[in-house]
Amino acid sequence: MSTKEWLVLIILGFLVEVSTTADPIQILNSSIAVASEGDPWQDMTSDNVNDGIVDYRRTVEKCGCCAALRRPSWVQLTLDKTYLVEKIQIFGRKYDTSFQQFHDIKLSLGRQDQTLKNEAFTTKNQSFAMTILTPPREVDTVRVSDVTQQFDYMTICEIMIYRQADCTPGKYSANCSKECHCLSGPCESVTGNCVTATCKDGWRGLACNETCNPGTFGSNCTNICNCVSNLTCNHYDGGCPNNKCAAGWTHANCSVACNPSTFGSNCSNICICHNNATCYHVDGSCTNNQCAAGWTHDNCSVACKAGFYGQGCSMDCHCDTCHHVNGSCFGSIQCHDGFRMENGFCTNMLEELVLTENRLLTRTTTWPESQRILITMTAFKCQTRRTTLL
Ligand SMILES: *[C@@H]1O[C@H](CO)[C@@H](O)[C@H](O)[C@H]1NC(C)=O
Ligand SMILES: *[C@@H]1O[C@H](CO)[C@@H](O)[C@H](O)[C@H]1NC(C)=O
Ligand SMILES: *[C@@H]1O[C@H](CO)[C@@H](O)[C@H](O)[C@H]1NC(C)=O
Ligand SMILES: *[C@@H]1O[C@H](CO)[C@@H](O)[C@H](O)[C@H]1NC(C)=O
Ligand SMILES: *[C@@H]1O[C@H](CO)[C@@H](O)[C@H](O)[C@H]1NC(C)=O
Ligand SMILES: *[C@@H]1O[C@H](CO)[C@@H](O)[C@H](O)[C@H]1NC(C)=O
Ligand SMILES: *[C@@H]1O[C@H](CO)[C@@H](O)[C@H](O)[C@H]1NC(C)=O
Ligand SMILES: *[C@@H]1O[C@H](CO)[C@@H](O)[C@H](O)[C@H]1NC(C)=O
Ligand SMILES: *[C@@H]1O[C@H](CO)[C@@H](O)[C@H](O)[C@H]1NC(C)=O
Ligand SMILES: *[C@@H]1O[C@H](CO)[C@@H](O)[C@H](O)[C@H]1NC(C)=O
Ligand SMILES: *[C@@H]1O[C@H](CO)[C@@H](O)[C@H](O)[C@H]1NC(C)=O
Repeated sequence: MSTKEWLVLIILGFLVEVSTTADPIQILNSSIAVASEGDPWQDMTSDNVNDGIVDYRRTVEKCGCCAALRRPSWVQLTLDKTYLVEKIQIFGRKYDTSFQQFHDIKLSLGRQDQTLKNEAFTTKNQSFAMTILTPPREVDTVRVSDVTQQFDYMTICEIMIYRQADCTPGKYSANCSKECHCLSGPCESVTGNCVTATCKDGWRGLACNETCNPGTFGSNCTNICNCVSNLTCNHYDGGCPNNKCAAGWTHANCSVACNPSTFGSNCSNICICHNNATCYHVDGSCTNNQCAAGWTHDNCSVACKAGFYGQGCSMDCHCDTCHHVNGSCFGSIQCHDGFRMENGFCTNMLEELVLTENRLLTRTTTWPESQRILITMTAFKCQTRRTTLL
């Protein structure tokens, strides 16, 4: 590694260090409500702990900014929502410590929907106490209490609560260690919920921190993967493993249907529908199963079976193997009985029969036994009818 690369690494490391140690931010006193237990000394009521005045250098009487509550007592600060609290500072009177103002005070904190937990002070002397939470903790309630009755009053001039600094966009939670994937804007620091309530492609959930279910992708996970063998696709753009789309689909996202008139795997097959109609892009089937003449099967890609041809393979070419589209028996050795090769087609010799003046004329010399009976009956019927008419 070159010196330059090392330098870059060191600078990157420094940046990471800085970003995780950004200074905490004080929660405004307007976001805090105060409740308490214990009678105040004169006008030294509990709301003074949240009045924004930390003039603890002077005596209490002069600043009028402290709370003094007769023990046993507590003061509780309720935040307007849950924050990731990182630091709590408690200020007492600096030059007036003879009151034992902080004697045996205890700090507890947490969320109202859970039990508050006691927390030791990181530093504490007679006029100042502080707790630093590592990592920051989800807190909406902070309580300072003194249940001893050894000294008359618990005196607190100000309680300051600091929250974790804002995470970079896309991060939330303690230490900014979790990721959210909002389409735009940040997510809420504790829950990760996206402010815009809309996720980037491929993500779902209120925090947009969960990938689409297997088999779905894209915006709101509303698109269905179209990969070969039902494999799951890339959750944000729909791309399939090895770019292998399911039959009938194409494009990098495998979500574009084959061009009209093509179908199947890689769109490499041509539709074979009646009147050149478009087929279903997946399996090649034609509207009303109307395949082009000479073709059959669901995908219209199978030629008529031997001996048949034409629309719906419904026509008999009267030879063993004929051309499946036009019925040409060119290549077959001979026509079936009763049919005669003419210009490559096996023609029904019945067409040669001519009925004139009550007489049946035949122009054929190769007249099979079975057909002869049929013709005779036909002629008989005609004669009968003619007789009736006369
Ligand atoms: C917050 O502090 C300011 C002074 O910084 C004070 O004027 C205001 O009354 C305080 N608000 C509450 C709710 O105590
Ligand atoms: C208590 O600690 C604070 C902060 O470290 C300091 O400024 C203050 O002088 C100390 N007070 C006493 C009485 O030791
Ligand atoms: C947050 O960072 C601190 C110090 O770097 C570490 O001790 C703690 O385990 C981390 N907590 C979380 C939830 O990542
Ligand atoms: C997504 O966010 C929610 C709410 O913050 C959290 O409970 C869940 O654990 C997160 N899931 C992942 C995979 O990070
Ligand atoms: C995603 O779904 C949400 C909730 O149904 C909706 O408000 C939002 O407009 C949708 N976003 C897109 C890009 O369709
Ligand atoms: C693909 O999955 C769908 C839905 O789960 C199922 O109906 C279909 O039969 C599957 N196809 C294949 C080829 O596995
Ligand atoms: C797939 O890509 C095409 C072409 O870029 C685009 O028009 C279409 O919206 C994409 N489909 C999905 C579901 O993302
Ligand atoms: C589709 O085309 C791709 C790229 O030409 C090829 O790798 C793949 O094997 C083809 N798939 C099929 C089923 O023919
Ligand atoms: C079908 O398309 C082909 C090629 O475009 C054309 O030669 C033929 O005449 C068309 N047939 C019908 C029935 O439209
Ligand atoms: C049409 O279906 C037949 C029978 O299932 C199959 O063998 C053939 O490969 C299919 N042709 C195309 C182009 O899909
Ligand atoms: C029948 O169709 C085939 C293939 O198109 C062609 O080669 C042959 O000449 C045709 N036969 C007749 C008699 O039209």
